[in-house]
Amino acid sequence: MPPPRDVLLSEAREVDGLITLLTDRVDEPLLDGAHRLRAVSNVAVGYDNIDVAACTARRIPVGNTPGVLTETTADFAFALLMGLARRVAEADTYVRAGRWRTWEPGLLLGTDVYGATLGLVGLGAIGAAMARRARGFGMRILYVNRRARPDLEAELGLTRVDKATLLAESDFVSLHVPLSAETRHWLGRAEFAAMKPGALLVNTARGPVVDQAALVEALSGGHLGGAALDVTDPEPLPSDSPLMTLPNVLLAPHIASASHATRGRMASMAVENLLAALEGRKPPHCVNPELFP
Ligand code: GLV
Ligand code: GLV
Repeated sequence: MPPPRDVLLSEAREVDGLITLLTDRVDEPLLDGAHRLRAVSNVAVGYDNIDVAACTARRIPVGNTPGVLTETTADFAFALLMGLARRVAEADTYVRAGRWRTWEPGLLLGTDVYGATLGLVGLGAIGAAMARRARGFGMRILYVNRRARPDLEAELGLTRVDKATLLAESDFVSLHVPLSAETRHWLGRAEFAAMKPGALLVNTARGPVVDQAALVEALSGGHLGGAALDVTDPEPLPSDSPLMTLPNVLLAPHIASASHATRGRMASMAVENLLAALEGRKPPHCVNPELFP
């Protein structure tokens, strides 16, 4: 379990560096008490748990772990997409429950991935790795991203579209943006209504990129075909969350980067970032590099 908030606050007063997980919130109140702190190193690529501006104002470098988890995370995002489309978890439950009697033409019918349209929300490293996988499966790929990526459009046959087009045309929508003020509730009631009926959502980014109440409505109303969620809001989900009982939802406990090799590389990178900052050097992966002009 993460340290309780009061323990984190009091321990942070004594230390020169913090290695943090995404469950540890590093904010003004923590930093105000942490007079010795000279380094924050997050064991994650995302760093929405850290107030980076507040760290920068105190000249504290913040490190993260990009790159090493890209392919592993895209593997899992694609596994969720396939698992949701072809109802893998439901099939397993069905067999284990002893419900399988005979081969039936209409049993556990799913959605084809081959030939379907995938809408990528965000085309950073993980979004691009997802696009490579989707291309191998013969999908048509649309994306929205702050900047155009003509290199990837040429390499992978992607098409940059606006949000409305992506929502209207995608059979699958997969989220690959960091959580920020701009991306919080990027998918809300209006967006779900604008999605293709029966579309499937994959979220390996951050739970709050989706307005979860609107997601539950779209799923229970039958407009959305299903959702595969490695991340939710909050984490873990409360046991009475409607997402726990909806059949067309595939849930995972925030494990997209969880391979043996990748978690080892993330740990090493976090240590390298921490040591560099403590020695006054720029961490190899620093999210506030302006501290080292
Ligand atoms: C995990 O969610 C990460 O940001 O690395
Ligand atoms: C299914 O198993 C088939 O042979 O079509």
